[in-house]
Amino acid sequence: MERNLENEVAVVTGGGGVLCSVMARELAARGAKVVVMSRKQENADAAADAIREVSDDVLAIAADVLDRDSLLDANEKTREAFGPCTLLVNGAGGNHPDGNTAMEFLQQEDLTNGTRTFFDLGCEGFSFVFDTNMIGVVQATQVFARDMAATGHGSVINVSSMSAFSPLTKVAAYSAAKAAVNNFTQWLAVHLSGTGVRVNAIAPGFFLTRQNKDLLTNPDGSYTARGGKVISQTPMGRYGKPEELLGTLVWLADQTQSGFVTGVVVPVDGGFNAYSGV
Ligand SMILES: NC(=O)c1ccc[n+]([C@@H]2O[C@H](COP(=O)([O-])OP(=O)(O)OC[C@H]3O[C@@H](n4cnc5c(N)ncnc54)[C@H](O)[C@@H]3O)[C@@H](O)[C@H]2O)c1
Repeated sequence: MERNLENEVAVVTGGGGVLCSVMARELAARGAKVVVMSRKQENADAAADAIREVSDDVLAIAADVLDRDSLLDANEKTREAFGPCTLLVNGAGGNHPDGNTAMEFLQQEDLTNGTRTFFDLGCEGFSFVFDTNMIGVVQATQVFARDMAATGHGSVINVSSMSAFSPLTKVAAYSAAKAAVNNFTQWLAVHLSGTGVRVNAIAPGFFLTRQNKDLLTNPDGSYTARGGKVISQTPMGRYGKPEELLGTLVWLADQTQSGFVTGVVVPVDGGFNAYSGV
């Protein structure tokens, strides 16, 4: 494997999760020094242990993307271990039922029969999901990309979603947040364009992970009605495999391959975003 990222110090938020632990491992295999950041130390440790099969230049740090002090502390630890961050993957994110409606389409009787409708969503739950996916990206970027702007070397890769382009039914807060991530990716790319820092995003289609497994599959492995609907809207007719995100990740991370690419959101989705359903 080409070690084309040997000059990079990569911080991967959400690095203890399913998709981003695979991403972090790939960056390490390509020669980057990698900081795996997760809310829980044990998840960061587990991902770092897997990376040690390919590299010793890995550090596991617990930090919350909504807690600026924990991010500042993580940035200091990164600098001490490897030097300033040059590649930030904003992978921390996820959904929660408090930001979802119970039904895809509102029926008038839902207003009186106890169904959780849009009108019942509390701002606290909505904000939690929105902030986790959007404000977490803003805040981690403020902390880790400042050195990039100062040195003129760096790249930020946000993790968006299909729900950013067309919102998914039920999924109100998460969809709004990911749409905001796309918009912010473009905004920041323009804002930092004179500094040498590139800002892009990957928008995964549907990958079976902890976050969505119960929504999309039954305990026996068959698809739920929603899972079947996703597959019927995915022209390739299957879920993605985490490894299928890696080509796009490495391309966006490598200054020599994508040095003139900034402000783009790349769908990796088996054709979901291109398909009208007809
Ligand atoms: N799985 C999919 O099909 C899919 C599709 C599109 C986008 N995504 C996005 O990909 C990213 C990774 O998701 P995944 O499917 O691997 O899920 P995951 O739950 O396995 O990973 C998400 C990680 O983010 C961490 N996290 C959540 N809130 C955090 C916070 N406040 N501070 C720090 N860390 C926090 C979690 O602890 C977890 O380790 C997310 O941004 C998700 O929205 C996933």
